[in-house]
Amino acid sequence: MANKYSKRQTKRNALENATEQASLALTVEVRITGNHFSSHLTLSDFLSTPGQVEVISGSAWQGFRRKVCLLVPYMWPRGSVGLQALVILCVGLLGLERVINVFVPIYSRNIVNQLSAMERWRTLAITVCVYVLLKFLQGGGVGTSGFVSNLRSFLWTYVQQYTSRVVQVRLFAHLHDLSLRWHLGRRTGDVLRSIDRGTSSVNNLLSYVVFSIVPTIADIIIAIIYFVTYFSAWFGLIVFICMFLYLTITIIITEWRTKYRREMNTQDNIAKSKAVDSLLNFETVKYYNSEGFEVRRFEDAILKYQACELKTNASLALLNQTQNLIIGLGLLAGSLLCAYYVTVDKFQVGDYVLFGTYIIQLYTPLNWFGTYYRMIQSAFVDMESMFDLLTEEKEVKDDVNAGDLLFTEGRVDFQNVCFSYTAGKEILSEVSFTVMPGQTVALVGPSGSGKSTIIRLLFRFYDVQGGCILIDGQDIYKVKQNSLRSYIGVVPQDTVLFNDNIRENIRYGRISASDQEVEEAAVAADIHHKILSFPDGYDTEVGERGLKLSGGEKQRVAIARTILKSPRIILLDEATSALDSQTECNIQASLAKVCANHTTLVVAHRLSTIIKADQILVLHDGRIAEQGRHEELLAMGGLYAAMWLKQQQTPESEVSTDEQPQDSSQTQGHQTSQK
Ligand SMILES: Nc1ncnc2c1ncn2[C@@H]1O[C@H](COP(=O)(O)OP(=O)(O)OP(=O)(O)O)[C@@H](O)[C@H]1O
Ligand SMILES: [Mg+2]
Repeated sequence: MANKYSKRQTKRNALENATEQASLALTVEVRITGNHFSSHLTLSDFLSTPGQVEVISGSAWQGFRRKVCLLVPYMWPRGSVGLQALVILCVGLLGLERVINVFVPIYSRNIVNQLSAMERWRTLAITVCVYVLLKFLQGGGVGTSGFVSNLRSFLWTYVQQYTSRVVQVRLFAHLHDLSLRWHLGRRTGDVLRSIDRGTSSVNNLLSYVVFSIVPTIADIIIAIIYFVTYFSAWFGLIVFICMFLYLTITIIITEWRTKYRREMNTQDNIAKSKAVDSLLNFETVKYYNSEGFEVRRFEDAILKYQACELKTNASLALLNQTQNLIIGLGLLAGSLLCAYYVTVDKFQVGDYVLFGTYIIQLYTPLNWFGTYYRMIQSAFVDMESMFDLLTEEKEVKDDVNAGDLLFTEGRVDFQNVCFSYTAGKEILSEVSFTVMPGQTVALVGPSGSGKSTIIRLLFRFYDVQGGCILIDGQDIYKVKQNSLRSYIGVVPQDTVLFNDNIRENIRYGRISASDQEVEEAAVAADIHHKILSFPDGYDTEVGERGLKLSGGEKQRVAIARTILKSPRIILLDEATSALDSQTECNIQASLAKVCANHTTLVVAHRLSTIIKADQILVLHDGRIAEQGRHEELLAMGGLYAAMWLKQQQTPESEVSTDEQPQDSSQTQGHQTSQK
């Protein structure tokens, strides 16, 4: 018996460790880069920072009712009658297991009694067969290996999959619904960990509570009633005291040691994020020759984690020993009393066997009680952070009366737009300008002057704090974001690609596009021949964030995407900055074709690319300092003229001399748009 116990203890330790290890599990991390337009999933940042456990202070049982209320909608598969029937069947099987648990000890008593009474073979054989059948249905008693529990576990998989799907899909959709500001501020590893842990916590909570805690308690109550009825009140009392002490002490010690587990999780987070960070920055690590430093730093973090792990394991050992002691004492008292009754002929030998069998059967699931209690506790914590995510408010919301944008000709108006990302630092103040239908307007100005911000505002990634932005006379604040964005195409300043092949990356511009259309877009973006020169052609994998492509190739893929989308309003944010003059020249021609008769907003540092624009806006300190056509601005001799002159005089600058007009009045540079 002792051997059996120690085996179970070892198993329990293993389970505890497994849960701990689960918090070290590898997850996929969603990463967002500086690019504000294309967020993407990368599948490489497999190591992520685990857990929100440390964030939560106070007991996980706080707000228990509220949490259960949140959970209920996921517990009952509302949409499917079949699944509902399955839930009821599983609960029925659970009841059947309880009945079997009562009859197994009774039959083992009967066998012993019949053997001692030298019963007829026929009777004995029937009793043995029934006993074996019951054992077959019950299994080893641990609750998972019997026929009934196996069947129940399997059937429950359908319910579990339903819950997991509903939770994950809802969360994922919600995350995609959240605004850019939230995505830029989030800690990706934590978010994914929340989804991951939250989803499994909902499942775990259901199965731990319904299939472990409730049956264990039901078994205890049934046992007490049974002993009081068929043995004597003393046995009921022994079982009751023993169980009461066991459960109380388990809960007290488990609550106490939770702090060690939290600390361990925090250290684990730190160790993991150090590992992730240094692996992500492998290039920098190599540039600065600091592999040794990184390894030492990682080892330090692991040492700290292990110190906490030791405390956690020591407290687990204490819990196990205390539980063992209580169980041992209960068993001793009950067995002695039972043996005494046998010696005074009050009981038969079979009754002793019944008591022993029953009590062991009761202790086995109890042995897991602390573990389940703790798992339920942490499942509540995990669930909380997931529900926090679910209740995260969207910043940029559609107006309740918002309708679709009625696009007619594509006039864009900025009227006294004021905007700041954070209070106190104004990025745009009183910016007003109009882009007439089909016109090309260029935004120029020093780095950080708010050019990309204007593009983001037009795409409604943020809401303005003052003034308004109109498209064809409709305030973009009052139309549905989806319809607004369907008319606008953006080639962002930094292009980030999905870790997929080139074809699919281009197709992202219009998911329904055929391969032929994808290739036509690639031709227009002057990348078709380049792609064909790769051994795998369009099937070439671009690697994580598109890192296997050069900057210029990535940029052309992004241009092809936008060409494929064929939007009505085009926003080009430094769309050709990473290209050499010849390629840029080629693309400008096709961009000009795409942009012809489309309202276009271009951001450019290389002024030679925008000299043909219908209007050039010079941004300075969040205001439009100058505006007009190229020649007019040059004639004004202000900021623009100074910038132009500087670019003319800097032969080593990005602006290559071969594409520069020798004379500023000549306008043979590359044009963004031709009308
Ligand atoms: N998400 C953000 N939160 C807070 N501040 C931001 C955010 N994005 C940009 N900024 C700040 O707003 C200012 C304008 O940024 P913006 O990206 O519009 O500049 P830009 O004119 O496009 O510059 P560049 O030519 O370097 O691309 C910068 O000072 C930048 O630091
Ligand atoms: Mg910018």
